[in-house]
Amino acid sequence: MQSPTSVQPAETLFRRDKNRHRTPEQVDAALRAELERLTEEDAHVWTAPNYNRREFVHSFFQYPAMMVPVVQKRLIETIKNCKPEIERMLDPFMGSSTSIVAAMQCGLHCTGQDINPLAVLLSRVKCGPYNHVAFGKDAGHVLAAAKADVSIELTITFSNWRKWFREDVAIDLSRLVRAIRSVKRLDARRLMWITLAETVRLTSNDRTSTFKLHARPIDEIEERFVSPINTFERLIRKNIEDIKLQARSLTHLDYLSKGRYTREVHLMLQNSGQEVFQPVINGVAQKYDLLVSSSPYGDNQTTVPYGQHAFLALQWIDLEDIDHSVDGSVRRTANEIDRRSLGGSLQDAKQEELAALFDRTPTLSRIAATLKMHHPDKVKKVVSFVRDFDRALDKAVAAMASNGYFIWTMGNRHVGGMEIENDKILIELMQAKDCILVTRAKREILNKRMAQRNDSTVTMSMEDILIFRKTTE
Ligand SMILES: C[S@@+](CC[C@H](N)C(=O)[O-])C[C@H]1O[C@@H](n2cnc3c(N)ncnc32)[C@H](O)[C@@H]1O
Repeated sequence: MQSPTSVQPAETLFRRDKNRHRTPEQVDAALRAELERLTEEDAHVWTAPNYNRREFVHSFFQYPAMMVPVVQKRLIETIKNCKPEIERMLDPFMGSSTSIVAAMQCGLHCTGQDINPLAVLLSRVKCGPYNHVAFGKDAGHVLAAAKADVSIELTITFSNWRKWFREDVAIDLSRLVRAIRSVKRLDARRLMWITLAETVRLTSNDRTSTFKLHARPIDEIEERFVSPINTFERLIRKNIEDIKLQARSLTHLDYLSKGRYTREVHLMLQNSGQEVFQPVINGVAQKYDLLVSSSPYGDNQTTVPYGQHAFLALQWIDLEDIDHSVDGSVRRTANEIDRRSLGGSLQDAKQEELAALFDRTPTLSRIAATLKMHHPDKVKKVVSFVRDFDRALDKAVAAMASNGYFIWTMGNRHVGGMEIENDKILIELMQAKDCILVTRAKREILNKRMAQRNDSTVTMSMEDILIFRKTTE
């Protein structure tokens, strides 16, 4: 662990009088000292190798690049101990909502955004309401209806479905879809849809070993024994049990009333490069005191194809049940969501915009110049990603309160054999937006699965936890 500036005796200061007003610099110092203490006490504190990453609601769907729940919770608790006034947290790249669920366990108002409709559906189910009794009844109804259904009519229309689904599997999935559609309550239907998404993942012809779509060999497809209705039955029972346990833990913390989280949770289908949602209370747009996130580390195609991983599941789900703003074009091709995500579009940036970007981040400027010499074809992708990320950072920083904190988990990657130092780039971009680096810690990545394309392999074995503070209004 490194501290960019020397550690003040903040902990002692802190302990003397917990409630006295602390200056932002004192909070910074306390935070540095606390992170250092935690790392010294346990070298694996930010890796948490023995922790169950799929505990409770975290097992609903295997979303790529999930953060470690216990690590996110510890980070939020640590920062909240140093600055108890923190109330409102934002994750502009919420993915499967690991950070949001952790923030709920700390009693914060939460906002999460993601461009991937499947991430939004998953988050909306994970964050409640948790009506396990009603869900149990609806699940019984869905299973009975699907098992009684003798229709062989398919509910999907996409052209090459036969590549991805055996006919008997497609018929079973269609029966489940019809049964789910008959459920009255939207929150129950959402739970059924996310359970169906995991059922699709496990029963389609796609290999489960990578996040990129990759069909199994024909003979394996034909010989495989899969039953979507049985798989769905097993998953829905477990999911409802997990909802019950999640609800119990939040009730125990006094953050749940009648199955609902007692603070605000806003989960938005939103491109964070375009807008960051701010709830309005009494006519005033609320700013965030804390941002906890892990963004993509490069364009989705050469890092983690979040959109592609959602493609098959989204063919089966009624999109209007996810959000009124989702339109069918997101499932037109397997690459559509990835194309809309950070770094997905290679549209030329204006010369002045690029020059200003290189000014803000000399590291990117140096990387782009070197890549241009050896791999000119790769420059645009690397630069487009940082340009999009920078735009998203602008929106996020604007939505933060003065002296608000950011906890970014970031990893470097390699393109054309060259290290893309995302940590340095992020620090430079944040500093250009008047956000200072308060402290940082390293964490080992134990099981992140990455795409391997040509020599754009993502080699991530370490990530950085970078904590910043916004110094302006
Ligand atoms: C590493 S994951 C997020 C993990 C998450 N922070 C957590 O706590 O588990 C990155 C997410 O960024 C999303 N994403 C990519 N581009 C985006 C954009 N322009 N706007 C919003 N979300 C985006 C991806 O869909 C993906 O879900």
